[in-house]
Amino acid sequence: MYAFAFVVLFSLFSPGWCDSCPSSCECSEAARTVKCVFKDVTEVPAGIPSYTRNLYLTGNSISRIGPASFRGLGDVTKLSLSNNRITVIESHTFAALHNLRVLDLSNNGLSVIHPDSFNSENNSIRDLNLSRALYNHSAIGDLAAAMRRGGFGNLRKLDLSENEIVYLPTGIFSSLTALRHLDLRNNSLMVIKNSTFAGLDLEALDLRLNAIQTLRADSLRELDGMERVQIQMRDNPFVCNCGIEDFADWLNATAKVVARQTGVRASGRTAQHLAPGCAGPGARLSLQRERRDRTADLVTPSSGVVLGFVGVIFLFVLYLNRKGIKSGPMN
Ligand SMILES: *[C@@H]1O[C@H](CO)[C@@H](O)[C@H](O)[C@H]1NC(C)=O
Ligand SMILES: *[C@@H]1O[C@H](CO)[C@@H](O)[C@H](O)[C@H]1NC(C)=O
Ligand SMILES: *[C@@H]1O[C@H](CO)[C@@H](O)[C@H](O)[C@H]1NC(C)=O
Ligand SMILES: *[C@@H]1O[C@H](CO)[C@@H](O)[C@H](O)[C@H]1NC(C)=O
Ligand SMILES: *[C@@H]1O[C@H](CO)[C@@H](O)[C@H](O)[C@H]1NC(C)=O
Ligand SMILES: *[C@@H]1O[C@H](CO)[C@@H](O)[C@H](O)[C@H]1NC(C)=O
Repeated sequence: MYAFAFVVLFSLFSPGWCDSCPSSCECSEAARTVKCVFKDVTEVPAGIPSYTRNLYLTGNSISRIGPASFRGLGDVTKLSLSNNRITVIESHTFAALHNLRVLDLSNNGLSVIHPDSFNSENNSIRDLNLSRALYNHSAIGDLAAAMRRGGFGNLRKLDLSENEIVYLPTGIFSSLTALRHLDLRNNSLMVIKNSTFAGLDLEALDLRLNAIQTLRADSLRELDGMERVQIQMRDNPFVCNCGIEDFADWLNATAKVVARQTGVRASGRTAQHLAPGCAGPGARLSLQRERRDRTADLVTPSSGVVLGFVGVIFLFVLYLNRKGIKSGPMN
């Protein structure tokens, strides 16, 4: 009886029991690193050792994470959950990870993010990767709520690229006072609303590959308010309409836009010709790094039609010619 109790106690407190490694993982106590990668596990394995600081759960089929997933892992500083199938983040999921600094959730299909997922007055996350993490644009509302309530006062880097985001909910970034790098590349943003970036002091802002047609004067003032920011804006369908003057002037004057444009051009004319009564709708304005790029943006729908027409005639002539060759010898 006593012997049995002793064995139970011994096994509970022996290092061997505490530090065992789940079968789908590789554990290194010396490096305080646990990797359970590309093992097709469907949930976070139980029994991850408590010494773990770097936890890689990349490339599995985890579909849901909750507070039970990371219990007893208060030392984890880096957590990668990228390339899974996570759709749901439950309330308090990350609350026990007091030392978490880097969280990678890229390449998932998040559709439900509980507003208290992070539930912490002052969470320690500095680097949050949500690239290609949202199932669709609808999840941005959930994310905004979780960001506002999560106490992200330490967040320096946020990657939200490739999420099909159509608009940014009001105040989504309002609590991110330490944020320096914001990546919104390859979304579907059409406008930057007044106050979207209010209170931020960014160093890098990536807006490439969106659907921005112009930036209004109040948005421009907000960008100007960030002293050090370097903005990337290539590959947006800037439209030359009569409201673009402020934007064109700003682009010409600012040092904040990184891709050094050789001038803002619309159908070959420089910005100063874009005053009221400027080129009609559909003329496109683009930022170009090099002269040789210019022609690419000057292709208009009408020249496409002309090219197509020329192609059809060419094919028709070829066809006639082929018939001629065929029937020639027979006659
Ligand atoms: C939040 O954390 C930072 C650094 O970890 C610290 O400087 C700051 O005082 C904390 N703020 C609050 C409100 O606890
Ligand atoms: C976020 O993850 C994506 C894909 O895993 C990667 O390409 C990108 O570099 C990461 N972003 C940052 C800021 O580390
Ligand atoms: C996003 O996905 C959800 C769940 O499938 C769906 O209900 C919603 O309509 C989708 N939203 C958009 C913008 O496609
Ligand atoms: C932009 O994102 C889409 C998916 O949303 C992807 O298919 C495409 O390859 C991305 N383009 C670039 C240049 O990264
Ligand atoms: C933009 O925001 C500022 C303060 O954040 C406000 O005073 C101003 O009225 C806003 N402008 C518009 C057009 O909403
Ligand atoms: C662009 O800026 C230069 C000086 O930086 C100025 O001389 C020029 O007039 C400006 N052009 C327009 C169209 O504002």
